[in-house]
Amino acid sequence: MDMEETAVNNSASSSSGELKIQIQLNELEASLLDLKVKVDELQKENSQLKRENNQLKRMPLFVAVVVDILPNGEIYLRQQGNNQEYLTNASEELRPLLKPGAKVAVNNALSIVKVIGNIYDSRVRVMELEESPEISYAQIGGLSDEIKEVREAVEYPLTRPEIFRRIGVEPPKGILLFGAPGTGKTLIAKAVAHEAKATFIRMSGSELVHKFIGEGAGLVRELFQLARERAPAIVFIDEIDAVGSMRTNDGTSGSAEVQRTLMQLLAEMDGFDNRGDVRIMAATNRADMLDPALLRPGRFDRLIEIPVPDKDARLQILKIHSRNMKLGTVDLKEIALITEKATGAELEAICREAGMMAVRRDADEISMIDYTAAVHKVKNDAVADTRMYI
Ligand SMILES: Nc1ncnc2c1ncn2[C@@H]1O[C@H](COP(=O)(O)OP(=O)(O)O)[C@@H](O)[C@H]1O
Ligand SMILES: [Mg+2]
Repeated sequence: MDMEETAVNNSASSSSGELKIQIQLNELEASLLDLKVKVDELQKENSQLKRENNQLKRMPLFVAVVVDILPNGEIYLRQQGNNQEYLTNASEELRPLLKPGAKVAVNNALSIVKVIGNIYDSRVRVMELEESPEISYAQIGGLSDEIKEVREAVEYPLTRPEIFRRIGVEPPKGILLFGAPGTGKTLIAKAVAHEAKATFIRMSGSELVHKFIGEGAGLVRELFQLARERAPAIVFIDEIDAVGSMRTNDGTSGSAEVQRTLMQLLAEMDGFDNRGDVRIMAATNRADMLDPALLRPGRFDRLIEIPVPDKDARLQILKIHSRNMKLGTVDLKEIALITEKATGAELEAICREAGMMAVRRDADEISMIDYTAAVHKVKNDAVADTRMYI
């Protein structure tokens, strides 16, 4: 009896325990179901957010430049174009890529979506910057009148501004050097910068137009900004015809962009003080093709023609470029006579070529024959190049 009772009791208690477990199991299953539903919902929400995120990334984005990163981690941006400034944030993964000068894309909510690049990269690529270049007037053959004119217009306003003040005369705003390629325009600009101990900042108009499509106007702004930061400075716009030629309606898609770049250049020049410590120079092979807007007073208002060297200048240039070479009985006067119409760059090439001829024959010094052979080689190369020459 005892035993039976115990058995019954046991079975009763075990069945009540089973029941409890069964109930717990049911509850767990119910909450599992709940959780599954929730996971499902979250997954849906997640993919919805992903879609929205992609959508946001695909929406037109604004381009801005990082000005600074604040100690609290906020990012100080300046929007390109309208110069609006604001503070924003970036995701952890983008953060390491952000530094002042970085170009970023921001969405409607002004958060950074991606990093596009570094504006200083293109700045460096298109602008050549030299602190007081190592070219002196002594390294320029001929051109003494032209150098004198350039000194008065560019160098003295930087080095002796008081004379202009005393006399009450405004120095010219912009100086345009024009003449055939290789006649020494860049050389003069560098020598003036050297003499005035100014930073030389060169920008090539044709690179600006052909390599930096869409960036032209911005880069022009940067150029002048950089010049102000590095003053005293000489801004030298080489091949300005690429930006400021009259034939901008040539049907290429670039022309509206070229026009914008030119407008920016004119605006920058108009904003400059003639007496300031940034001087503006430009060079072109064809002054006659320039947009008249560039040549108005207060812009490029001093035109200086850089001619192809005459006989005496050719001799000087030949001497300059052979001064470190070992010459035998070479009559450079004779070479100057037979190189009519050669430019400075071509005369330099002749000297180099004559040196190479002597190297090839394993000689101790350069002979007259090396020189005359070099003249013919450079002449033929020029003809093959279909450039006008000798
Ligand atoms: N008048 C000159 N005297 C000495 N070298 C010259 C002269 N003109 C040109 N050269 C040489 O030719 C090279 C190219 O000249 P550059 O000044 O760039 O010509 P441009 O700017 O007129 O096209 C110079 O680096 C220099 O070596
Ligand atoms: Mg040049």
